[in-house]
Amino acid sequence: MIALTVNGREHEVDAEPDTPLLYVLRDDLQLNGAKFGCGLGQCGACTVMLDGKAIFSCLVPIALLPGRRITTIEGLGPEAAPGVVQRAFIEEQAAQCGYCIAGMIMRAQALLERNPSPSEEQIREAMMPNLCRCGTHMRILRAVKRASVAMNGAAL
Ligand code: FES
Ligand code: FES
Repeated sequence: MIALTVNGREHEVDAEPDTPLLYVLRDDLQLNGAKFGCGLGQCGACTVMLDGKAIFSCLVPIALLPGRRITTIEGLGPEAAPGVVQRAFIEEQAAQCGYCIAGMIMRAQALLERNPSPSEEQIREAMMPNLCRCGTHMRILRAVKRASVAMNGAAL
């Protein structure tokens, strides 16, 4: 059994130590926000936060994770009360098919937690590892900017 702390809750997981975190989130913990895209660290659909940093959960074996703080999109806020970044993505209608969006939101969340006022260039650079096949990148950028403004308490 491996102990994982996900969204502030402790879980005992019965899985092989080399199992990627993404599989455990989806198959054992029913946290299906993070998606399987490539399984190779190339698309970002599986992005979650580990101790506040965005990671590709398809690449990280659970053996490395006891004692670490894992946050998934489900930990940012429920459907009825979305978090600031989730709200900004909704308000900008950033999703088309939506497959990439949980990963995008988690990468944006990690960026804004360490830098609440990023420049356009910093946003572009931080979001670079995550791809959107539908091509809604401009709306995604607007959503990150909107979230930044909201986090800083300014009215839009
Ligand atoms: S599924 Fe993890 S980076 Fe593509
Ligand atoms: S909204 Fe479809 S992949 Fe991004």
